[in-house]
Amino acid sequence: MTLKILTLFPEMFTNFFNTSIIKRALDKDLFKVEVIDLRQYSHDKHHHVDDTPYGGGKGMVIKVDIVKEAIDANKSKNTKILLTSPRGYKYNQQKAMALAKEEEILIICGHYEGFDERVLNYVDEEISIGDYVLTGGELAAMVISDSIIRLQKGVLAEGSYEDDSFQTGLLEYPQYTRPQVFDGVEVPKVLQNGNHSEIRKYRLYESLKLTYLRRPDLLENYNLTKEEKEMLEKIKKEALQNK
Ligand code: ADE
Repeated sequence: MTLKILTLFPEMFTNFFNTSIIKRALDKDLFKVEVIDLRQYSHDKHHHVDDTPYGGGKGMVIKVDIVKEAIDANKSKNTKILLTSPRGYKYNQQKAMALAKEEEILIICGHYEGFDERVLNYVDEEISIGDYVLTGGELAAMVISDSIIRLQKGVLAEGSYEDDSFQTGLLEYPQYTRPQVFDGVEVPKVLQNGNHSEIRKYRLYESLKLTYLRRPDLLENYNLTKEEKEMLEKIKKEALQNK
């Protein structure tokens, strides 16, 4: 997979691609990255890439001709082109899994008041990473990149993301490590006894409980097994009693 990032602030990506798991994956050639400065496609000597909006109003609008030129210079036949924007479709793990299979992705980082609307004619998808507004799309591009890179083969140890929150459709169960007792709170007994069947049930129950209490919306699209249905009934009863 090749990731290309088109941005007005390439320096923001230096640490991101040079730290921890992402750096290791890059060093091992598990993906390739190119961070491209949009200003290099500017047509004037001051490297302007934006102009005032038609119809008036504050702020500046990034020019379509410049973005189109940058896209054309950097896309190939199989490039998926994304634009980060608070008005895009909301990003989630399903989307990350689909994008992780692409051969090449070009992420255009939005900025200022936005882009000339005609930029969308050259973009496959407009993506928002959540219901809040950032000063620019660079952090969103990092979020998208990170979620895709960790799904590339060889980046994480085999089997390490299968239990992730959202990967299964449920939030992840709680984890513990030593010490066994801290500040009077003991690690749940079931995790200490080595009974794998009991541990599996405990983890599933806790996943379901967290999902029910915090993100009941996720359960609407989740096909419950018979075991999970029974657990959920118990969780609901417990929740009523604790009210
Ligand atoms: N740019 C500004 N806010 C954003 C958001 N929430 N998602 C993606 N890009 C953005």
